[in-house]
Amino acid sequence: MLRYSTAGESHGKALLALVDGFPAGVTIDSQIIDAELRRRQGGYGRGGRQRIETDTVDILSGIWKQTSLGSPIALQVINKDYKLERLEDLTRPRPGHGDLTGAIKYLGPIRGILERASARETTVRVAAGALARQLLREFGIEVLGYVVELGGIACEVPDATLDEKRRLRDASDIYSLDPARDPEIKKLIDETGKAGDTLGGVVETVVEGLPFGLGTHAQWDLKLDGRIAQAVMAVQAIKGVEIGLGFEAARRRGSQVHDPIHFDATKRETHTLGFERPSNNAGGLEAGMTNGQPLVVRAAKKPISTLRKSLDSVNLTTLEPEAAQYERSDVCAVSAASVIVENVIAFEVARALVEKFGNDSLVEMKARYDLFQKMARER
Ligand SMILES: Cc1cc2nc3c(=O)[nH]c(=O)nc-3n(C[C@H](O)[C@H](O)[C@H](O)COP(=O)(O)O)c2cc1C
Repeated sequence: MLRYSTAGESHGKALLALVDGFPAGVTIDSQIIDAELRRRQGGYGRGGRQRIETDTVDILSGIWKQTSLGSPIALQVINKDYKLERLEDLTRPRPGHGDLTGAIKYLGPIRGILERASARETTVRVAAGALARQLLREFGIEVLGYVVELGGIACEVPDATLDEKRRLRDASDIYSLDPARDPEIKKLIDETGKAGDTLGGVVETVVEGLPFGLGTHAQWDLKLDGRIAQAVMAVQAIKGVEIGLGFEAARRRGSQVHDPIHFDATKRETHTLGFERPSNNAGGLEAGMTNGQPLVVRAAKKPISTLRKSLDSVNLTTLEPEAAQYERSDVCAVSAASVIVENVIAFEVARALVEKFGNDSLVEMKARYDLFQKMARER
């Protein structure tokens, strides 16, 4: 099984991801991982931390001559802002963080909770996802994430190819597909920051080139829609996940929701096997399995919890009312969230891919992939 776990504190020495079950024979370019790490640090509205860190990955194991060995891959990102041993504890828990609940649950300091709950941990989730993308690319599967709404301002999503969408996204400081809206959104971020407040938004990820049959209908915890929702919901500050039409499907009639099935013999050799859908309201998943259409996932990110204009809190030493503590913080991290969500989805899709086609080696996976496509055409 392809899986990963992470370790590390926000101001500790380093962040680590241990990736298990990654197939042998995949060419790995650490610069692809670094590029995703750089994008995670960007976007308009980030705080001082991103000026201190210039994240790059160290691949500590599992790769030889830029090729995966099939053994565990350890990824490390060093924290330049290492100062954990010198930091004091907090006494006034911040609403919207795990400060109060974690300190009570673990009967310990708030510092111990916030250092691990911090979204700094997503650095290595992005690294693991960017590693997984290099496997997906071998099968023509591409992943793209972008911002569709920020602080209530909706951004247009054009009907365009993935490459065109990527060009638009990379031209936007917000990481939206509507760069013309950047000035309006940046102004909103600036004004909100000056007022001591923060902003949230909605991000979308598209995965193209998926074959039929990743995931399964057969058992609840193996359904790919559920697994993607779990991975995305587990990103810090994500409070809602939609696949395809999502909540909008509940407002429409069935005839306006379900995607008709057509057949186009000229596309028989492609990943769709010729089964074309004039719409993709299902967002690429039916009964927990990929259906050959692009996977479309949206996630809602709440505004940053730490406010310069602090909310009410309680001093845990005196139990007297006091304003919540302020720790250096972003005003808006929706752009960064689009990068994180995109990469955690990439990892889940890669996991489903190796479940279907095996994870010993890339050559065997490719042979099994080709055999499956052939058998599916002949069934
Ligand atoms: C990319 C990213 C950056 C974040 N930066 C901050 C930040 O600077 N300050 C802050 O208070 N919360 C920040 N958060 C949100 C907190 O990590 C998160 O709200 C908190 O850990 C509580 O978890 P929950 O919102 O999932 O319940 C960030 C989240 C993401 C995804």
